[in-house]
Amino acid sequence: MKIHTKLLWSVLFLLVLYPLQAQKIQGLAKTPPMGWNSWNKFACDVSEIMIREEADAMAASGLKEAGYQYIVIDDCWQVTRDSLGFIVPDPQRFPSGIKALADYVHSKGLKFGIYSCAGDKTCAGRPAGRGHEYQDALMYAKWGVDYLKYDWCNTGKMNAEEAYSTMRDALFAAGRPIVFSLCEWGNNKPWLWGAAVGHLWRTTGDIYNCFDCKKNNGNWFANGVLQILDMQNGLRKFAGPDHWNDPDMLEVGNGMPANEDRAHFTMWCILAAPLIAGNDLRNMSPETKAILTNKEAIAINQDTLGIQGFKFVSKDSVETWMKPLCGGKWAVCVLNRSKSYRSVDLDWKFMSVTDSLSQREFNTSKEIFKIKDIWQNKEGGDTRKPLKAVIPAHDVLCLKLYRKE
Ligand code: GLA
Repeated sequence: MKIHTKLLWSVLFLLVLYPLQAQKIQGLAKTPPMGWNSWNKFACDVSEIMIREEADAMAASGLKEAGYQYIVIDDCWQVTRDSLGFIVPDPQRFPSGIKALADYVHSKGLKFGIYSCAGDKTCAGRPAGRGHEYQDALMYAKWGVDYLKYDWCNTGKMNAEEAYSTMRDALFAAGRPIVFSLCEWGNNKPWLWGAAVGHLWRTTGDIYNCFDCKKNNGNWFANGVLQILDMQNGLRKFAGPDHWNDPDMLEVGNGMPANEDRAHFTMWCILAAPLIAGNDLRNMSPETKAILTNKEAIAINQDTLGIQGFKFVSKDSVETWMKPLCGGKWAVCVLNRSKSYRSVDLDWKFMSVTDSLSQREFNTSKEIFKIKDIWQNKEGGDTRKPLKAVIPAHDVLCLKLYRKE
């Protein structure tokens, strides 16, 4: 009798409780998330007026049409906790409350994201999530939050995988589909455990609005575009649909010249990186807008296979990157890292490669591809003839190769 009761309980557990075990909510980021975040441009200077205007601009400027959907407030929206431990938004800067702001963003056909941190305080010293995970997750769900960026400041000896898993479980318990963005800077190799916990994980410390430099911030360095690009080495095998490497948000439109912005954006597309704009969408130059909304570049990033690109060859400060795309297509992008122009000669017959990760072969003696230059928006030629081009300093040539019908 006793054995029967035990068995019954075990069966009940397996049938009823096990499927309810907390897990990441699947399928929220089948392609890299696209959106906007306040931090790179505004840091702590956030308010509901500004966030509403950014949502308006995303909807009106063509960014929404190009695929951007998340409007994310980063640090500094929160000031304290009330006597029951509930998080309190800054009453001066967010007088209507976060729910009203989320509703507004939703009314524009966009999604709403927010920021917190696994430690005792956020990086800007605001109240953070530690010990309040379930309470905060319920509040976010009630407000209509669709995306949570979760930082790693003031975490002392906390274990990163455990801390992020606690928040994942809290989000699961809250029951709302919320994209979970792990902002742990790569310190504890989140690519090894992040896929079961969140939808994307930062691979490095913060980006800095510079193409090729490092900025000393005292006890940490911020990294320029090339520095971050180099830190992605070896990580591509960990990324894929619903679990992306995140080399940090975009600096396009924040002061680099158009060629550097274009190269930065192109490389983030090749890396299948989340495309989170970090500029002021209310005041974009035509160049910035053209870069952020380039359909072909975005299609490379959002390709449904979700295979991160790889460096095929590097010579004389020129790197050739390739990304397998759906329908037998390939992206081939050539980055000039140097401070002077470079003449390149892409002789396709010497560019055969089999990508062991995707099991895709690129071999132009077996298959001829047509070529489209995605920044010139020009189709022409095919892989039977070498392609010669001059690439200006800190710029790219980016090609889509597609099958000849
Ligand atoms: C960290 C993160 C940044 C930003 C700030 C906010 O530095 O890496 O992206 O969220 O905190 O304080």
